[in-house]
Amino acid sequence: MCSIIGFIGNSRAAPVVVESLKKMEYRGYDSVGIATINSGKIMLKKGVGRVVEVNNQLNLMKMPGNIGVGHTRWATHGGVTESNAHPHDGCKKNIVVVHNGIIENFREIKKDLEQHGHIFKSQTDSEVIAHLIESNLVDGKGNIKKALTKTCTKLKGAFAFVVAFEDGSIAGARLDEPLIIGLTNDGYFISSDVLGFLEYTDRAIFLENKDIVIIDKNGMNLFDFNGKKISKQITQVAWELGEIDKGDYAHHTIKEIHEQKKSIEKAMLQDNERVNIFCNTIRSAKNIFFTGSGSSYHAALVAKNLLSRFGKIRSEVIMSSEFQYNLDNIDKDSVIIAISQSGETADVLQSIKIAKEKNAKILSIVNVHTSSLARLSDCYLGINCGPEIGVAATKSFTGQLAIFYMIIDKISDNATRFVDNMKFFQEIFEGIIQLEGEIERIAEVIKDAKDIYILGKSLHYPIALEGSLKIKELAYIHAEGIAAGELKHGPLALIENNTAVIVLNPEDETFNDTLRSTNEIKSRGAYIIGISNKEDIIFDRHIKIPTVNKSFYPIIEVIPIQLLSYYLALKRETNPDYPRNLAKSVTVR
Ligand code: G6P
Repeated sequence: MCSIIGFIGNSRAAPVVVESLKKMEYRGYDSVGIATINSGKIMLKKGVGRVVEVNNQLNLMKMPGNIGVGHTRWATHGGVTESNAHPHDGCKKNIVVVHNGIIENFREIKKDLEQHGHIFKSQTDSEVIAHLIESNLVDGKGNIKKALTKTCTKLKGAFAFVVAFEDGSIAGARLDEPLIIGLTNDGYFISSDVLGFLEYTDRAIFLENKDIVIIDKNGMNLFDFNGKKISKQITQVAWELGEIDKGDYAHHTIKEIHEQKKSIEKAMLQDNERVNIFCNTIRSAKNIFFTGSGSSYHAALVAKNLLSRFGKIRSEVIMSSEFQYNLDNIDKDSVIIAISQSGETADVLQSIKIAKEKNAKILSIVNVHTSSLARLSDCYLGINCGPEIGVAATKSFTGQLAIFYMIIDKISDNATRFVDNMKFFQEIFEGIIQLEGEIERIAEVIKDAKDIYILGKSLHYPIALEGSLKIKELAYIHAEGIAAGELKHGPLALIENNTAVIVLNPEDETFNDTLRSTNEIKSRGAYIIGISNKEDIIFDRHIKIPTVNKSFYPIIEVIPIQLLSYYLALKRETNPDYPRNLAKSVTVR
């Protein structure tokens, strides 16, 4: 996944495009490029690195012209090189294309075009779009609409692209990748995410699959892939821009960890009617399947446990990338609960698409209200934590859990009393944040660890998985979440003198069992970091969390691990906001 942006207006495009790319860099950040059109001439610059770096090297902002396209890349086809960076042009150099997605049939298209004399400069799948549009424009000019419809119907896979033409028009098209038009008094944006233009306008048009937009000096026109004219509603997007800024924090990630004190409360701001629909749909379902990826998958594991424990309702969790292989019991009486921060994760959307084909009902918990997932769902609840920029999920994860506590309470006659405890929670979060200094010191001690293991049982096991994901993503240390009782069935062989092990062991029904497992590893030399409300002699380091209602520990104990992962990243000099090889919104499968 990559970010794409196009701008056409009265102001100079380059500074606007560069600023937009900085906001969408979470989508991919291995290389950057922009192209502008000035007096009928295309100027193109690209390079490897982050937006700020490439801008410093190549003075992207200084490029002339009021029309521009830009791209930040997350490599799928072809290495991280300047020639594979977007935009791509064709042979005649009269168009430039930026693309997000994967063109599955690019090899055959490329071969065909090469036989017709086209010369390719990159190893990317994306470059075929530029050459194909070029070949569909008679004499490099001709009918743009026709060239685009012909191109789009030829491409297989998932794509959103923006193309700028030397004659001063700009166009975009999408299939299974997001593309949004931003309308300002000054001009138009075509962007992967509303964050690309939210600084300039909150008026947006969300393109649907198989939509094409063409904007030229006469204005904007929308078509479908058959060339039929269509019209779309303008939506008002509502996110406060200030939240995208790091403020006084060194990184978005730490800012977002700190924001959890408030974001949990914001997750409770739900429309009652929607919550009722959500709960009634769960109650009346024959089968319930949760699905999600990464952290959202871990949130689903907690939700399943809570639903069974307090709601006495059986459900299954299928990670979204595995969903298509587990369809046997999905039918019209099934309910799929999809969990996603972005609402654009391709694996999640694909799962929903298949489930819909089987007439299942779709509920979702999603942060981006305007996302594809929100729009595809029969009913969704917003996480309301504001934009999450750090690639590793933090506040969206606890927001997802909070919503689930609220749902469980509705279904189970207030079994956990989560909402009633909201005020108390803020104090608890404040208390955990006070542990930051101690957590930073622990990070210093274990920063050179080759492996870190996290143990937890029952409700703590999904947090052990989530914690290990945070350590991998942020600090690039191999980490593994292990159900404490499984140690003796294999992982114990990995424990050596000084192996770092984090033990999630607050006082609940798992306490004694987890302590027993901790003894087993301690006696084999492990260095134990205990996260618990109760001090124990077995801990080499103790992160003391407050005593709370047993069911709330997952949402609390994850915060010290988020902090630990962040400080491990700092000590190891990795960038916690933009981990290597990753992207926040994975819109390819
Ligand atoms: C990517 C991110 C993960 C995230 C996952 C799911 O892989 O790197 O941090 O948990 O996507 O994202 P979603 O937006 O669907 O919650």
